[in-house]
Amino acid sequence: MKQLLYILLFISISCSTEGTDDTSVMTDDGYTPLPNPALNFEIPSNFPESTYDVTQNPPTEQGFELGKRLFFDGRLASDGVVSCGFCHIQEFAFTHHTHITSHGVDGQIGSRNAQPLHNLAFMADFTWDGAATFLDSQFIIPITAEKEMNETISNVLNKLRDDDNYPQLYANAFGDQEITTERTFKALSQFIVMMISANSKYDKWERGEAVTLTPDEDAGRILFDAKCASCHAGTLQTDQTYRNNGLAIDPAFNDIGRERVTGLPEDNRKFKVPSLRNIEITFPYMHDGRLQSLQDVLDFYTNGVTASDNLDPLLVRPDGTLGLDITQDEKEKIITFLKTLTDNDFLLDNRFKEF
Ligand code: HEC
Ligand code: HEC
Repeated sequence: MKQLLYILLFISISCSTEGTDDTSVMTDDGYTPLPNPALNFEIPSNFPESTYDVTQNPPTEQGFELGKRLFFDGRLASDGVVSCGFCHIQEFAFTHHTHITSHGVDGQIGSRNAQPLHNLAFMADFTWDGAATFLDSQFIIPITAEKEMNETISNVLNKLRDDDNYPQLYANAFGDQEITTERTFKALSQFIVMMISANSKYDKWERGEAVTLTPDEDAGRILFDAKCASCHAGTLQTDQTYRNNGLAIDPAFNDIGRERVTGLPEDNRKFKVPSLRNIEITFPYMHDGRLQSLQDVLDFYTNGVTASDNLDPLLVRPDGTLGLDITQDEKEKIITFLKTLTDNDFLLDNRFKEF
């Protein structure tokens, strides 16, 4: 009898190791989820190491599919309408195009411009002031913010549990039908970390693929390296620091930026140096969307920088006046270069399209 038990135990152990290949597990009610193959999370050769630890939450087909459904589901909001995808629209690199600051539930207007979603697996922290230091935990902010989705996490989980399809989708992704906050956020992260934008003309040029920058694009690149890349550094055009680039205080919002997170006066009105990927199509610009065009942005850097205690010293000229020295001809070349950062393969990628 004891021997038989050992044999049974042995069989069950070998079965369960075999099963780990496709992570499919039978659920309590006898439902066997579909196989769940791992997705290929590949770091482009011109990119830095990822900051998101994919070994802790490896993207899989079914996890991605669940994350995508959640992303486009208005039931994550109290009004059943304002999904993540409502403010983050793919064709505009997942920004809320044309909206200066974001519009949430009941048309409530937030104080910040929706950020693009791309290459977030390579970012150390999230939002304009770095309020979230782990991607999975960022999602609690839009769901619960009164001016965004205005919902509680427990209500969201209950709506998903009552749904005809979600329990099965969770079982497909995670092995059983339990719907938890952790699984919900992990699925959203699996969808979002796969959003890698690395196929712009600039990427191809950086990787030495068969593209050439035009003389104006190349001149713009050299000017950008000289005037902008001390902050907008590296392949992703951000050194991931928080800085005050001299935007005048907007009394309507009086956004204190990074100070909101650290409580330190020296962080007053500092904002994250943003990546400039797909910048051509993510207008309006800056944390509150105050500038309409790239020409406006460059005019701001030459003529609009305002003084404050925390103004970044890089924006003070040797003679004490404020701003960068860039001629109109140079501005045009920089803009031409910035347009090489547009990645149509990403903007039109069917994997991320709404159902
Ligand atoms: C009402 C519009 C709105 C909705 C709905 C919304 N977002 Fe956002 N999102 C924003 C805004 C605005 C920011 C910038 C927030 C800030 O800086 O405080 C942002 C920032 C982010 C960031 C940080 C990006 C970065 O570069 O650091 C992520 C990730 C994100 N949103 C994901 C989501 C997900 C997932 C959902 C759904 C659960 C969602 N958002 C719903 C407007 C929205
Ligand atoms: C001292 C650091 C610094 C320098 C130098 C700098 N920037 Fe910025 N840039 C920032 C910061 C910080 C922000 C975000 C500011 C905010 O929204 O409050 C920003 C925002 C931007 C934005 C808006 C991005 C968006 O998603 O809305 C653009 C475009 C931009 N910079 C382009 C440039 C160009 C082009 C140059 C060179 C001519 C340049 N920057 C030089 C720090 C810098």
